[in-house]
Amino acid sequence: MTTHDIAVIPGDGIGLEVTPAALEVVRAAGRRHGFTCQFTEYDWSCERYKREGAMMPPDGIDRLRGHDAVFLGAVGAPGVPDHVSLWGLLIPIRRAFRQYVNLRPVRLFDGIESPVNAAIDLVVVRENTEGEYSEIGGRMNRGFPGEMAVQESVFTRAGVTRVLDYAFDLASRRRGYLTSATKSNGIVHTMPFWDELVEERAREHPGVRWDQEHIDALCAKLVLGPSRFDVIVGSNLFGDILSDLAAAVAGSIGIAPSANLNPEREFPSMFEPVHGSAPDIAGRGVANPIGAIWSAAMMLEHLGHPAAADEIVAAIAAVLAKGDVRTRDLGGTAGTDDFTRAVLTLITEGR
Ligand code: NAI
Ligand code: MG
Repeated sequence: MTTHDIAVIPGDGIGLEVTPAALEVVRAAGRRHGFTCQFTEYDWSCERYKREGAMMPPDGIDRLRGHDAVFLGAVGAPGVPDHVSLWGLLIPIRRAFRQYVNLRPVRLFDGIESPVNAAIDLVVVRENTEGEYSEIGGRMNRGFPGEMAVQESVFTRAGVTRVLDYAFDLASRRRGYLTSATKSNGIVHTMPFWDELVEERAREHPGVRWDQEHIDALCAKLVLGPSRFDVIVGSNLFGDILSDLAAAVAGSIGIAPSANLNPEREFPSMFEPVHGSAPDIAGRGVANPIGAIWSAAMMLEHLGHPAAADEIVAAIAAVLAKGDVRTRDLGGTAGTDDFTRAVLTLITEGR
């Protein structure tokens, strides 16, 4: 029997509620597909920050290094600035483990009401380690009329090329169509460079049709006609914005999953729902666990269990299509546990 060694960081808020749901589904899938997962839990969070002054211990990255994968709920809490929780945990993990691909599938499931009336099945590939989210810059003259802030974007040939290659490969395994998010009319150094590299990589993937859209127009087109998109590749900032937009168009941010991948497998990859800690609903057992459960399915696919992953996503789809068990964000009355139990029943029965 294969055993996978998984680091689990439930985090804060609803992260503490959706993570156990996802792990339970992983255990059930393992029983059917002949693998087990050993979960090692870390209490790294904003609560830890309030107690000890840091989101994770100084050797946190080294402790994660030996695991096969990292599963994360969500971090963020009122009273702790969001840049502390992000730069104290998530971003160091993504960078130390060279998780340069952030993969965010978006599907409109049967039985879900979407603000747009169209079929949606796309994947946003977000560059995850450089771009606009850089540490280069600073603030000067704090508190004076001449106060200023400068933040530099960093785009490297190697960093852009590798994420583009991943996106083109993914498109070739799907419907063979890639859209690049750009803004080369306004951002005149980095974005034309991005566009040039897209053209260059496109020549290496002749089987994939591709086009590019300015990010503002792309946002409008995602709302007005999402069906035509297959793989959308964007920089760190553009990919971040697009994936929340696409998730909302597909019904709820509570559904959206993500994978932070180190495709070379030199380091563990990290799997987490797209949503945050949702302090407005935390502690009430009403959070939608789909984003976390689907993220766990992506983790199983990465660990070599594609059939288990497909079965989990099919179970989510079946419960949604039936329509009687639905969380409040989707217009229902079910709690986190009710939905999770409905998914577990289908998986256990092998349907
Ligand atoms: P959020 O995603 O936590 O919540 C946005 C809205 O969506 C809220 O009304 C919330 O109730 C709802 N929502 C989110 N997930 C849901 C779910 N599973 N089921 C039902 N409803 C759900 O984003 P927000 O409010 O901007 O941020 C809250 C905290 O989370 C902040 O501290 C932020 O920094 C953090 N955050 C952390 C992320 C992470 O850990 N990767 C990502 C995004 C935000
Ligand atoms: Mg985001």
